[in-house]
Formats: sequence, C-alpha cells, structure tokens
Amino acid sequence: MQSPFPHILYGGDYNPNQWPRDVWDEDIRLFKQAGINSATINVFSWAKLQPDEETYDFSELDEIVEMLSRENFDIVLATSTGALPAWMVKRYPEVTRVDFEGRRHKFGGRHNHCPNSLVYQKFAGRLVEQLARRYAGNPHIVCWHVSNEYNTGCYCENCEKAFRVWLRRKYGTLEAVNAAWNTEFWGHTFHDWDEIVAPNALSEGMDFGGLRKTNFAGISIDYDRFLSDSLLENYKLERDIIRKYDPSTPITTNLMGTYKGLDYFKWAKEMDIVSWDNYPAYNTPWSYTAMCHDLMRGLKGQPFMLMEQTPSQQNWQPYNSLKRPGQMRAQSYQTIAHGADTVQFFQLRRSKGGCEKFHGAVISHSGSSETRVFKEVSQLGAELQSLGTTLLGADSPAEVGILFDWDNYWALEYTSGPSVDLKYCDQIHQYYRYFYNRHIPVDMVPVDGDFSRYKVIAAPVLYMVKEGVAEALEKFVADGGTLITGFMSGIVDQSDNVHLGGYPGPLRKLCGVWAEEIDALAPGQQNSLRFPDGFTTPCSLLCDILHLEGAEALAHYGEDFYAGTPAVTRNHFGSGTVYYVGTQPDEAGLARVLGLLAETAGVRPLLPEETPLEVTRRVKDGKEYLFLLNFTQASQPVPASFAGETDRITGSPVPETLPPYGVLLIRR
Ligand code: GLA
Ligand code: ZN
Repeated sequence: MQSPFPHILYGGDYNPNQWPRDVWDEDIRLFKQAGINSATINVFSWAKLQPDEETYDFSELDEIVEMLSRENFDIVLATSTGALPAWMVKRYPEVTRVDFEGRRHKFGGRHNHCPNSLVYQKFAGRLVEQLARRYAGNPHIVCWHVSNEYNTGCYCENCEKAFRVWLRRKYGTLEAVNAAWNTEFWGHTFHDWDEIVAPNALSEGMDFGGLRKTNFAGISIDYDRFLSDSLLENYKLERDIIRKYDPSTPITTNLMGTYKGLDYFKWAKEMDIVSWDNYPAYNTPWSYTAMCHDLMRGLKGQPFMLMEQTPSQQNWQPYNSLKRPGQMRAQSYQTIAHGADTVQFFQLRRSKGGCEKFHGAVISHSGSSETRVFKEVSQLGAELQSLGTTLLGADSPAEVGILFDWDNYWALEYTSGPSVDLKYCDQIHQYYRYFYNRHIPVDMVPVDGDFSRYKVIAAPVLYMVKEGVAEALEKFVADGGTLITGFMSGIVDQSDNVHLGGYPGPLRKLCGVWAEEIDALAPGQQNSLRFPDGFTTPCSLLCDILHLEGAEALAHYGEDFYAGTPAVTRNHFGSGTVYYVGTQPDEAGLARVLGLLAETAGVRPLLPEETPLEVTRRVKDGKEYLFLLNFTQASQPVPASFAGETDRITGSPVPETLPPYGVLLIRR
C-alpha cells in the first residue's frame, strides 16, 4: 500500500502555546538534534482560538504553523474540539455531558461534551470551518487530527431524545423494539416512544461489585451502539468540513486500542488512516500490546499511525514506571513491525503544570539534551532517518484471523452470569498469545470480514452471532477453512436474545456438538482436561457440558459429575474442520489444542526454530523484513537461521545473542 507520508513521521504532541516564545526556538533546535521531523499541534486550544462566542483569534496558531513550516516540519494539525472552553459551558450548560450516574458535569476536565448537543455541534463545526479555511493548502500539513481520543458517553435528556430517533430508524416500530428487547420480561413493555429512557445507573444499570451490568442487555447494547454512532457523527461533521477545503490530506482521530466504548471497525470506515495511542502499563504483556497493534491495523487492513506513546513514563496509571534503557526503542520498533508508518510521542516538551507534569516527554523539566530519554529519542531519530522509506506502507500478511467485535465485547461483558470473570479481551488475548509466541502472524478480523483470506479463523467467546455470521463461517469451513471456537459462543442474537434450540445455537451444526449446561468455576476451583495420550492439564472459569453430534472428542473432563464427558472436540464440515474448546484450558492445554490445529491447517511460523524473541514480519516490494525483538529479561540466542545476515538498522552482522530490548531487522 502507498503510504500517505513522505517518510516515517517522527515527532508528537507539541504545545508551544503553553510556553513563552524564547522556548520555541530552543524547541526547534532540540527537535532537529533529535531527528524529529513532525509535530502534532493545536490539540487543546479551543479556549484560546475562540475567547468568546463571537471572536476567533488565530494569531498564535499562525505563528506556530509558520514556524514549523519555515523549519520544514510535517504538521499534524488537530482541531481542538476535545475540550470545551469555559465560556461555552457557562453560557450553554447543556454542552457538557451527563454521566452514567446521571450527573450533569460542570466545566472542567476534557472529553466532556454531549455528542448530541446542537450547541456543541454548531460551535465545533464553526471552529473547524475557520481552521480548515485558514490552513488547508499548507503543504506542511500532512494529516488532520480531529478532536482527541473520543470517549465516554452521555445520558442527558437530549441524548435520550436522539436515542429514540436512532431507534425509530433502526427498528421502525415500537413493536419491533419491544420484541428485540424482550420487554415482556419484568413488564417493561413500551407503549410510547417517549417512555424509553437512557439505560444508565438510575434506569437499567446494575452494579455488580464495580462491574457495569444491566437488567436489559438489549437496550444497553443498543445505547452503546447509539453512543458510538453519536460520537462518530461528531467526527464526520468535522471531517466533512475539512474535506470541503482540503481535498486530499488524510484525516484521522486518535483511537485507543481495545477501548470498549466505540465500535472502531465502524469508525475506521470513516477514517482515511487509523491512528492510535499506545500506553501499555509496566505489567502489560508484550503480546497484548502486539495484539492491540494488530487490531488497529486490522480496522482498515492497512498500516496505521502511532499517534502517541510516552518516551519514558505515564502519569495516569497507578504505578508509572520508567521505560528501561532501550525499552522505548524496542517498543517503537514493535509498533513499526506490526504495521505503523509513524512513531509519535506524547509529548515533545514536558508540562509545567496540570495533571500531566509527571508525564514523560522528549524534553524534560531540566530542558537538557543530556538526559537519557533525550539521547534515546535522538538515537531512534537517527535510525529512522537512515531507514528512510524502506518500510513505509509495507504489508503484514497473515494466515490466521482472530475475530474481534465490539457488539460482542459489550454483550459478553453485560451478561449477568455465568461468571463475572469473563473478560472479552482476556479471552481473545489467550488465543492471540499462542500465535504470537509461535511467530505465526495474525490479523484481527471483524465478523463481517473476508474470511477466505485465511487458513484459520479463531472465534473465542463468539457469544453474539449476528445475522449472516454463522452462514459466513459455514462457507469458510465448507471451503476448507479451519475454525476454532468454544464456550460462550453462538448463544445470542444482535439483541442479546438466546438462539433457541440448544447452544451453540447457529454454530451447533458447524461444531457438531450440543452444550447442554454451562458450569461456572469460582476462583481457585479447577477441573482438568485429559487427552488420550495421558496428558492432563487444568481448566477453569467455565465448563460446557457437551454432547457429541458428529464431532470427535480430543479431550475429556477429569473431575466432577461430568468427568469423562467431552471438553474439546473436532468436527469435519464440508472440506474443513471445526475445533470446539468447551472450557478455559491453562496455557499448556490451549497450546496443545492450537498446536494440533496449526499443524493440520498448515499455518507456518516465520522461522523454523523456537525462540523467546518476538518475530514479526512486514513485506514490501517482494521482500520480507523480519523484526526480532527481545522483550525478555535476559540475553537470548539469535536463531541459527539468521546467522550471516545483516541487521538493517545498524548495518552490522547479526550477533549471536540479543540483549534485553535488543532489536534486529533482517531483510530476506
Ligand atoms: C492521551 C491523550 C493525551 C495525553 C496522554 C497522556 O493519550 O490523548 O492528550 O493526555 O493521554 O498519556
Ligand atoms: Zn447528551
């Protein structure tokens, strides 16, 4: 794919507006020293750009844009609509959001607007009109950055009205709404559209020990869809205005990986390029970060931008450890390895005040270029400069697809029962981690994706099976594909009503099993999986009690009243195969099943050897680029199959061992 950028963008959020002018010159000097070539500006400047309802003042932004243009930086120009100006809230209190608890917010914080407020929409549209008219055509602007990290919902009366309109459009009649939500339960039948209210904490919300559950998943899931759509309309409003003035510069907004609130697959269709902010915690597994990158790449099936990462530490996590020497570099290469065309930081100069003063930045409070962080940023800057355009726009081919679906995410985590410990992303990650550890590339795929591109589709906890999905999976398998799914799959339709006739509902024929009951195991409780060769390994969380309907058993339960009954099965369907995992095996148990599957499906790892290194591939112009990354705590031998190769980053021969956070880039 052709990248929209002339080189890897290397820079990040830059807020010169928070600093006196003499600091700006110093900034530019330091940026050049560090090999920084781009800056993201104007992220939170609405109050300055528009000091009151009638006045706009672009004098400072003009200066910033002029300076960066003169100095030949690529500009990512944000629109500033991510935080409301105080005057607007004072004059029009309805622009702020009402939270899940039903509290109308006062001025403060950010990401604080009601998406359906016409006042907000009017002012946001006007501001963007001014910005687009003024700055479109500046060749240094390489990307538009709409708002910032859209998130959180609103439960105000205005949103409630908009929700009713949204429902009318979706369902047509109130009868259809009642049927979809199964409102006969607890006598919730609606006789008038205006009786429908936002399902917040004061309505259908259920607090399950801090978990946000619901009495009626049907309405709650629809409200989540509606909120995601409402914020998406805010994005589209700004995007369309920018497009009137600027016909071609890519427009994006920064996403947040597995953030639950927004259906990013739907969003990505409206974005020219996906960008996202990567803030792993000190204890986030590297495989989880890799999965997030693959998810962000999967949204459009295209390279993405890393809009933000910290060069050193965060401020908003409970424990904000420093990135260890070399860690930022390794994390940056991991990002490129999984499909990024940019490496951008939050932020370029560390804030003097506000809650982010302890957030790391390229330039620290000392202002010095002699810091560890500044030197590491400079080293990476030089390396990326010498890599040039080598990897820009490179592909990331994969034979395995893992399904990810926001409707399913919401629905699964709303369920009241069978277990509060059922976490969507954890479940997906367990499957992802297997392939990651075996160096088998993975795509994260939407449920309406093109399955035919893959040898294997993994669909763990495919709880909600929407219209057409079972048929698409049947076709995929009938044509020779391999599918793996398991417990909590095929249970409900798009409204969270059960597919009657026995679990896994529409997947029953495909899987060749019937799950009669689902046992929940509390923390500390276990069952076990027994494989025919004697291998026995623990399983936990949930246990489906299965009947074979054409499938063969690959493992049986070891304990309890269902000891000896099938737990893991395999079925042949058309020319393909379906694995069903009825419980949560430990890592070794899942590896046993996935190992068998990978072998029979013929999916190939990127290298013949086993290694604890991360190995990730991009492909461009018929050449393979393999990234070897050491995220372990110890030096690791470089696999023998790379002996004699050259590291394309340093130009040196590949060493025998790679130290912690070491990186190698090998071309084949
Ligand atoms: C988010 C925001 C930034 C900044 C960083 C801090 O990603 O987009 O404005 O607050 O977090 O980590
Ligand atoms: Zn609202």
